[in-house]
Amino acid sequence: MRTTTLDIEYKTPEQLTRMRDAGLVVAATLARLAEAVAPGVSTGELDALAEETIRAAGAVPSFKGYHGYPASICSSVNEQIVHAIPAPQQILRDGDVISLDCGAIVDGWHGDAAITVGVGQIDPKIERMIEVAQEAMWAGIAAGARSLRSGRGRLTDISYAIESTIRQAGRYGIVRGYGGHGIGTAMHQDPHVLNYGRPGKGPRLVPGLALAIEPMLTLGSPDTAELADGWTVITRDRSVAVHVEHTIAFFADGVWVTTAEDGGRERLGDLVTSVAGVPSS
Ligand code: MF3
Ligand code: CO
Repeated sequence: MRTTTLDIEYKTPEQLTRMRDAGLVVAATLARLAEAVAPGVSTGELDALAEETIRAAGAVPSFKGYHGYPASICSSVNEQIVHAIPAPQQILRDGDVISLDCGAIVDGWHGDAAITVGVGQIDPKIERMIEVAQEAMWAGIAAGARSLRSGRGRLTDISYAIESTIRQAGRYGIVRGYGGHGIGTAMHQDPHVLNYGRPGKGPRLVPGLALAIEPMLTLGSPDTAELADGWTVITRDRSVAVHVEHTIAFFADGVWVTTAEDGGRERLGDLVTSVAGVPSS
């Protein structure tokens, strides 16, 4: 049981709306990376492309220099789960699966998101696991939005929705040592968001919160190991892992996914706030 007091940064609606600027830079960067992924491309090239895209938008890559992290993205391939460092000599091959994780800062506010994409033709089992990870992430976000609206919801309502969605979908490993987090004027804030567990625990889901939701699934055991580089997290059994992430802001009448172009409207429908407004398109 956690006995320390959580230090949660509650934002005003105006501040949450400003988080969208950073979120949209992250969304655009990930979209560009997804298009660039192909056999023969190195993760180092993807990192360069990300940094260029983030800086061209007038934003700052939040990962670079974070506790000494040397790159603008994490590019976690196959058995790598999260926090893998891109490298020019790491060449993507047909059948690989890669999690691209990216963060940006605009006017001091953070956005953090990740996608997992296949390289060329991938195993249908892995394709399905990517879908399940996305479904779980959106189920978690939707549960958070419903709990917010109920006025009685708590943080682990999100965790429970993520775990149940994954368990109903099949036999996947759910990574336990890593999870989502509060986000705002820093990338990692309280509270930690577990991807499993009973509902109804933890801090109340109230307007002003901003959370990064990031389920991590494996085809085998959920046990992890960290490589000697001090960053890369892999599956202990070397089974393939996937990871997706979005940043969400809690408004009085619903949530806004800051790292999605449409705020999450397509996946969440009217659980989306009307305050932040849909971008004119
Ligand atoms: N999105 C990642 C996370 O929340 C951020 C990685 S931090 C870095 O864990 F330093 F590795 F870049
Ligand atoms: Co994160």
